[in-house]
Amino acid sequence: MTTTTSAPLLAAEGITVRFGGLTALDDVGLAVAPGTVVGLIGPNGAGKTTLFNVVSGIVRPQRGAVSWKGRRLQRHRPHHLADLGIARTLQGLNLFPGLSALDNVMVGADRLARGGALAMLTGLGRYHSDERRLRERAMAALEEFGAADAARAMPGTLPFGVQKRVALARAVVAEPELLLLDEPASGLSGEDIAALGEAIRSFGARMGVLLVEHHMDLVMDVCDHIVVLNFGEVIATGTPAEIQADPVVAQAYLGAAEEEGEHG
Ligand SMILES: Nc1ncnc2c1ncn2[C@@H]1O[C@H](COP(=O)(O)OP(=O)(O)OP(=O)(O)O)[C@@H](O)[C@H]1O
Ligand SMILES: [Mg+2]
Repeated sequence: MTTTTSAPLLAAEGITVRFGGLTALDDVGLAVAPGTVVGLIGPNGAGKTTLFNVVSGIVRPQRGAVSWKGRRLQRHRPHHLADLGIARTLQGLNLFPGLSALDNVMVGADRLARGGALAMLTGLGRYHSDERRLRERAMAALEEFGAADAARAMPGTLPFGVQKRVALARAVVAEPELLLLDEPASGLSGEDIAALGEAIRSFGARMGVLLVEHHMDLVMDVCDHIVVLNFGEVIATGTPAEIQADPVVAQAYLGAAEEEGEHG
């Protein structure tokens, strides 16, 4: 146990999810405190995305509860997350192809705008001072991720790594209290992963982060605490050093690699 005094922002307890006869999650729990980065790792099919989807309100668990700041979330849905102060990025990019990078980030700032960014972008409502303020914040967010040069470009014209930075800027521009990241490093090259690590450590100091990721170097580099799933069960929790030294974790990954080898 750590001696941290801050109550968790997010807590999932006793989460069980079955898809037909398959138990994707079996009595799984985790907590994310403010200003900490929690990694959720495990071999393919371990249940990481399922837990991410439970937290996001996409999958309803058969048992267990998700709490936000000590209050149980009842029937929450993905569109409730922004109002709670939770942002997320998904495995895909989900950028609006017809909006510039800057306008995409401004959509993420919607929560901060009185009329909402969409009202603003469609020319409705009292929004001019809001628009200037949001534009500045969106630009600052792009700068934070080293993507300021891309502000006026359409997403489709940008390299994949830059599009990812834009998606991250959109997720953090409204200063969420919790950021959910599902495989942010997938498809990125070494240099972009290193930059992503720096970015996560930077915004991870001011918000809670739940990071689902396969790139172990990144996970070990940025996480304060790690939860390891295998076949829907938590098999280990601890600091990066503890997880790296845990033979049960090594065995789980080894077993998964052998199985993949047999199939491939
Ligand atoms: N909607 C669904 N219907 C049926 N089975 C599902 C569904 N979603 C996930 N599963 C199954 O639940 C298990 C956990 O899947 P999940 O996607 O959560 O794993 P994961 O840890 O995210 O894997 P990966 O690392 O490959 O992304 C897998 O066996 C998967 O096939
Ligand atoms: Mg997944």
